[in-house]
Amino acid sequence: MIVLVTGGAGFIGSHTCIALLEAGFKVIVADNLCNSRVEILNKVMEITKKNIIFYEIDVTNEHSVDRIFSEHHIDGVIHFAGYKAVGESVKEPLKYYYNNIISTIVLVRACQKYKVQRFVFSSSATVYGENEVPFKESMILKPTTNPYGESKTISERILIDVSEANPAFSVALLRYFNPIGAHESGLIGEEPNGAPNNLMPYITQVAKGKIEKLRIFGADYPTFDGTGVRDYIHVMDLAEGHIAALIHLKEGIHKYNLGSGKGTSVLELVTIFEEETGIKIPFDVIDRRPGDIAECYADVRKAREELNWYVIRDLRMMCRDAWRFEKNI
Ligand SMILES: NC(=O)c1ccc[n+]([C@@H]2O[C@H](COP(=O)([O-])OP(=O)(O)OC[C@H]3O[C@@H](n4cnc5c(N)ncnc54)[C@H](O)[C@@H]3O)[C@@H](O)[C@H]2O)c1
Repeated sequence: MIVLVTGGAGFIGSHTCIALLEAGFKVIVADNLCNSRVEILNKVMEITKKNIIFYEIDVTNEHSVDRIFSEHHIDGVIHFAGYKAVGESVKEPLKYYYNNIISTIVLVRACQKYKVQRFVFSSSATVYGENEVPFKESMILKPTTNPYGESKTISERILIDVSEANPAFSVALLRYFNPIGAHESGLIGEEPNGAPNNLMPYITQVAKGKIEKLRIFGADYPTFDGTGVRDYIHVMDLAEGHIAALIHLKEGIHKYNLGSGKGTSVLELVTIFEEETGIKIPFDVIDRRPGDIAECYADVRKAREELNWYVIRDLRMMCRDAWRFEKNI
């Protein structure tokens, strides 16, 4: 089976390429490298000892995407390509709406033209907005607080409408919670451009001495220790969730939460990181970050029941793997 992976050189995409190649899929990556490097794909090939066909293209460009579909018999698409920085999306909404929505439309049109019936989409827990935890796939989505989140909700809506009009078009909407960690080889991991937005790369950069102190955004949330609670998932568990989704994909639209199902506070994660690495993480507590919610964690029963998928890597492993990668770069 040949899978087109858009954004395959990025953080989640590159780990998913490993899982795909190890599961026997053939992989074509389309990435414009706006937030990644071609060397990452070389490392994926080094780890798996398998080949990737790479197109350096922008997936909002219909002609470039058409070329890939016309040159290969593609069986399925996993669409990771997109921008993901919530704060930046508030400052530059058009950039986010354009890239994240047009890329989805262009790819779905190519799927229709070339009769590709399997589509896996990178959605996000952000689409739940301020709902009650744990988030369930059956919940009515509340408005999100930023253009990034809206771009995911709109892309989901487009895919739902297209699939309802053409039920043979099988779509998995995968709502990721908070992916962290890195491949156990230490060769690939999360490499944010500039200052990190996410907690784990922030912690590892403080541990390495690149940043003096961790900033914790708010310790007055209605959570057990006052800091924000999130559902962390090892990026390799998340990657394997895509294989399960592809294998079990049936006609129509299917939404799945990919998370661990457990909430962990910022302070808990910092403590586990310190215990696993023996490195103290100094921190300051500052004001809450606009748009952040107190708690976010998944109900993961649907993915377990329908995809037979569940996480097998714990927080300690996430911390060790993230740190091994940070030390290597
Ligand atoms: N990392 C997270 O915490 C998280 C959580 C929920 C959802 N997601 C979603 O998962 C997907 C992957 O996230 P990630 O963390 O791997 O991000 P990433 O930035 O590491 O990877 C995205 C990749 O897409 C590429 N890209 C972006 N726009 C493109 C375009 N128009 N054409 C071709 N390539 C393009 C980038 O160069 C990059 O390699 C994104 O859609 C993101 O919104 C991520």
